[in-house]
Amino acid sequence: MKFSDATARLRPCGLAGVLLVAASCGERAAPPVETAANSSTDDLAADLGLSPIELRRILALGPLGPPPPDPTNRVADDEDAAALGHRLFFDERLSRDGSVSCATCHDPGRAFTDGRAVSMGLGEGSRNAPTVLDAAQQRWLTWDGRADSLWAQALQPMERRIEMGGDRTAIVRLVLTDPQLRAEYESVFGAAPDLDWLNGLPEAARPVEVEPGQPAAVAWDALSEADRTSINDCFANLGKALAAYQRRLQGGETNLDRFVRGLRNGDEELLGSLSPEAIAGLRLFVGRGGCIQCHEGPMLSDGEFHLVGAPTPGGGMPTDPGRFLGASIVKADGFNAASRHSDEPEGGAALRVSTLAVSPETWGAFRTPSLRHVGRTAPYMHAGQLPDLESVIRFYSTLEGAVQLDHHREQVLVPLELSEQESRELLAFLKSLEGAGPGEGWGQAPAQR
Ligand code: HEC
Ligand code: HEC
Repeated sequence: MKFSDATARLRPCGLAGVLLVAASCGERAAPPVETAANSSTDDLAADLGLSPIELRRILALGPLGPPPPDPTNRVADDEDAAALGHRLFFDERLSRDGSVSCATCHDPGRAFTDGRAVSMGLGEGSRNAPTVLDAAQQRWLTWDGRADSLWAQALQPMERRIEMGGDRTAIVRLVLTDPQLRAEYESVFGAAPDLDWLNGLPEAARPVEVEPGQPAAVAWDALSEADRTSINDCFANLGKALAAYQRRLQGGETNLDRFVRGLRNGDEELLGSLSPEAIAGLRLFVGRGGCIQCHEGPMLSDGEFHLVGAPTPGGGMPTDPGRFLGASIVKADGFNAASRHSDEPEGGAALRVSTLAVSPETWGAFRTPSLRHVGRTAPYMHAGQLPDLESVIRFYSTLEGAVQLDHHREQVLVPLELSEQESRELLAFLKSLEGAGPGEGWGQAPAQR
């Protein structure tokens, strides 16, 4: 196998100068870095043996601020909306047979993942469940970016056959005929549709594009335009409540964050947050390893899509179209930022999705995952192909089993040929990216009704 053939797609941004990259290339730049790093910062960095360029790159990795505002969701930061979303997130009744909730696959006890290679809801999927901790920081959601907001994303698993297999009409009726959920809904969104109308709706009705002729699709088509709009409005509101909840799922300060804060504030004690081994791993990460070409900024992700050529689950050629399909799905999504359900249908997010190109070049590319909490989110890669972090490091070290697609000519990844010592250092660094998780009870199931 020719290692140097492994390819990746990169934005036209070089490795040199992460700060410049963030400013000129990212649609959403990393938080501004105080340029006047005080002199003790330089002294401390020198004591640690960090070069000025290493220091500059490391300072760009933190801190992570609160999630950016989401003007497409008017209740994004509403406390009551978050409380409603909290209930919905753990409510199995939203699924077709009452057995699956969001928390089935995003289990708080597993850093909001499921520990499986690919998820299992009502059926087995083909993708690995990412954590929802800090997901509110993402510009495009899911591995292929098929949603452009946290609220639009939340609507998809509710209806997908292999996930919760629910139905928007049934879900809206369930929520708005449950006295407590209805009261909470009305306190956030105002008067809900009346009970007679809700009880008169068909048992199941939803647009089913892939399976026309399905009873639910036939029932949907038979509804009046006004009824369909009311159902969609309520359904979108449930997504917005779920998003408000997930915005509270902040992962918290990591040892890397504390280390960066120590460098910034000249606080020597905080520098002890990373072991000497992890600091060596950090230097590899921002240096020879080239990881920050893609895993940049406080999220340790550029939010963009690349083909790193991770081995496929069966070892054959890749069959998952990745971003190519994701881009067309998000453009066509009736709940995207430019849709009538968006609270800012002419804002920046709307422009971003309207002008998004669906390019064959992105076939097989996946979003650079955030590395926050990565020590707790095994297995790894979009289909959980790699069982542990040791295997991920071995992959970047050797590129063994890497797949290549003809049309990808950029050659960014080369086998790093890491020594055993260097592999251990990188591993120690990757294990220092965990935070304490969300506070105030948001990280547990809501109290029993
Ligand atoms: C059957 C398992 C399953 C269920 C149930 C499920 N998810 Fe997921 N979730 C996944 C998988 C798998 C992905 C990745 C999907 C992809 O890339 O195609 C994902 C992706 C996400 C993401 C994107 C995270 C990111 O970093 O982009 C969010 C947010 C999310 N889910 C929230 C939810 C919410 C809210 C619910 C309930 C309404 C839910 N999920 C239900 C498995 C599940
Ligand atoms: C060219 C961009 C790029 C570079 C350079 C890069 N990565 Fe990645 N990384 C990605 C993408 C894209 C994925 C997801 C690939 C997939 O699922 O097919 C990924 C996946 C990962 C994962 C798995 C995370 C998870 O949640 O599944 C880890 C860990 C990781 N990379 C660490 C590193 C390290 C360490 C380096 C440097 C040695 C590095 N990466 C270099 C783009 C990159």
